[in-house]
Order: sequence, then C-alpha cells, then structure tokens
Amino acid sequence: MGKDIPKAKHDHETLKFPDGFLWGAATSAHQVEGNNLNSDWWDWEQTQEENHRSQEACDQYNKYEQDFDLAKSLNHNAHRLSIEWSRIEKEEGVFDEKEIEHYKKVLAALKKRGIEPMVTLHHFTNPLWFAKKGGWENFKAPYYFERYVKVIISKLKGYANLWITINEPQVYAYMGYLTALWPPQRKNNLKAFIVIWNMARAHNKAYKTIHKISPEAQVGIAHNVGSFDSFHHHSIRETFVVWFADITQNHFFYKLTGIKTHDFIGLNYYFNKYISFNGERAKLPSIVDVAVTKKEVTDMGWEIYPEGIFDVIMDLSDYHLPIYITENGLASTNDDRRCRFLISYLKEVYHAIQTGAHVKGYFHWSLIDNFEWADGFKPRFGLIEMDYATQKRRVRDSARVYAQIIKNNGLPHYLLRFIGHTVKAEEVLKK
Ligand code: BGC
Repeated sequence: MGKDIPKAKHDHETLKFPDGFLWGAATSAHQVEGNNLNSDWWDWEQTQEENHRSQEACDQYNKYEQDFDLAKSLNHNAHRLSIEWSRIEKEEGVFDEKEIEHYKKVLAALKKRGIEPMVTLHHFTNPLWFAKKGGWENFKAPYYFERYVKVIISKLKGYANLWITINEPQVYAYMGYLTALWPPQRKNNLKAFIVIWNMARAHNKAYKTIHKISPEAQVGIAHNVGSFDSFHHHSIRETFVVWFADITQNHFFYKLTGIKTHDFIGLNYYFNKYISFNGERAKLPSIVDVAVTKKEVTDMGWEIYPEGIFDVIMDLSDYHLPIYITENGLASTNDDRRCRFLISYLKEVYHAIQTGAHVKGYFHWSLIDNFEWADGFKPRFGLIEMDYATQKRRVRDSARVYAQIIKNNGLPHYLLRFIGHTVKAEEVLKK
C-alpha cells in the first residue's frame, strides 16, 4: 500500500525570511543588570518580599560580554536592550560620564560580535528625582525626558541606529495608575490619561531630537498589542467591543502621537483576549477567563495563541511602515513548550510576510531569565536559564532550536513537524 507515493523529502526546504532579517532577543536594564539603586522601581521593591526585589538580577551590568558571547554562539545578529536613565542622570541635570562610557562599551561589545543593537531609552523605570517630581504625571516630564535623550544620542549616535523611545507607554499607565500594582501605585483614571498624554508628547519631542542629531536613525516605540475576538461569533455587541478594544489598545497611541513620528512599528505581542457579554442579561462586556476556553497557557496563565501574532501584524500593517517584533515569548519551565512556541509563532510571522507585511526583525523575550517586575524571579522567560544563587548561565534547548532557525534564516521543514504537542527538544536537535 502506498508504494507509488514517493517518500516526502522536504528537509532541504525552508520557509525563508527576507534577506537581512534581524534575529535576536530582548532584555531591559532593570530586569537584567542588577543593583539599579537610583530608580523608582528599586525604591519600591524595598517594600516587597525578598524574592520580589531585583537585587543582583543577572548582574549583566558586569557580565554583558559573557551574555553577548552566548547570543553570538546562538547565531543572534541583533539584540534589543535598554539604557538606564537613572544611572545616567542620578541627580537632576547631572549626566554621569562614567555611565555613558559604560553603555558605549556595551554597545561596542555588540557591534564587535556582529550583533545589531536596538536601544530602548525608557523601559518602565525612572530616576528617583524624576519620580519625586511627579514622574510622568508632571507636564514637564517630556522636557526632562528629551533633555536626557539629547545627551544620550549626542554621545552614542555612532553606536546604534535603531532607537525605541518608550517601551509600552500604555502598559506603564495601566499598571501604575489603573490596576496600580506597580509603582507609583496611584489608582486614578485621569492621571492614567495624563501619563499617556505626556508619554506621547515625550515620544514626539524625542523623535525630533534624535533625528536632528542623527538623521539616519530609525525611531519608534515598543507597543504592547493584543489580538481580540468575540466569544460568541454572531454577537454584534461583542464584535463592536472587539473593534473598540483594538482601537484603544493597538491604535490609540499612534493616533495621539500621529504616525509621522514613527519610522517603524515595534510590536510586543503576548495577549489574546475573547470578549463576551456573559449570559443574556449582562450589561457590560468582560474578558473570558482562559480556564473557560481550555486553551494552553504559559506559566503566567497567558494563552498560547500563535495565530494572534499574524492578526496583529496584519492589523498594524495598515500604517505602511516596517515592523519589528520587539518582544514575543513565554514564561515556562517546560522548555519543549518554548520550542513549540518559537516554531509556531514564527510560522505565523512567516505567513504575515508572505501576505505582504514588512516584518524586518524578531526579538524573542527574553535572552535570559530575569526579574519579572512585580512577579519577581519565579517566571522563566529566558532562552538561557539563570541560576541566581551561583550566577551561572545554561543554554536551554529552545535556544539551540532558535539558533537553527536563525542559521537557516527561516523555518526548515523538519522543525515544522514538531509543532504537535509531543515535541521533544532532543528530537528536534538530533537533526
Ligand atoms: C515588558 C517586559 C516584560 C514582558 C513579560 C513586556 O510587557 O516590556 O519588561 O518582562 O512583557 O511580562
């Protein structure tokens, strides 16, 4: 039976990504560097339990060469990291040359290894002096931010070309002012809006300043985008809320700033949400608990939904700008799950490119396990595992699978076989 059917032999074939595609991983200063003493987050952590304080973190402030060597050995050709404002400007208006020199060395270390840096200027943390002045609620915040950006770009312009002004402005406002689970823990809708408004003004000012000093620079934000769907497919009410959620989470910030101050779209994709009006009489829409949908989740309880990355890429493609996936990843101690995650999400990115989206790079979150904000050190997001007690690094199998993808500049067919739930990393790596 079946003897006329030739054996499938696709191993030489690959779902190829565009030439020059940037492949790498992302981190942020406070989450990996350790001892970020002059920031508002550090200050706040001192009121939290021990495992919820960043302390030494991965000590990447000192061990960056070691981590970049690992990234290089895993074929990464790009890396997203952030510069810590509270180190550079510990005191208001005083810029620390030693710290600027430090970041010059960090960026040079990437370049030396043939790794293209993408640099974030603000990733959730603020200098203490800035926080004490009211932080992003202060209408002068855009001025303070621009002053810092001007110094950084003047000194570091030769070291990087891809700049992210602000990481996830809306998440910052949401976590600090709506759920108030993060500093400054001020629950207040109006303040949340003012913060977003000031961040939009700050981005625009920074965009202009960066271009004035470094005309060839490419500037954008890293934006947390979500995919949404109605739970009851024929519900008009739910479909309307899906549309509204998309506008408010995915497009609002671009409407506030105007799209002209973005050279690219930076997408951080983690969340898929089903919207429901529970039962016939429910007046308000709600987000359906993942337990109800019985979908596979990460250790954070976030649904694994590869198709969502296709949706958000296509949605944001309407701006006709290049797109970088500035973050995408999962917390999991099950590394086979991370392999499957990588392969299945990247397959969707491939399809989005085939459909016409200009995706130019993918940064997995994260290079290494790190300090997951209010969740402390428990969630494991890294391609590289951290032993915090010994500061030892161990390359996970998923990092090796990703290295094979990068080597092929795409997904070889033999990896696609492992999307099924029985995937075992050793089997993938035997190839
Ligand atoms: C943030 C990261 C964070 C990651 C996982 C993103 O929203 O930019 O700092 O670690 O999500 O929660």
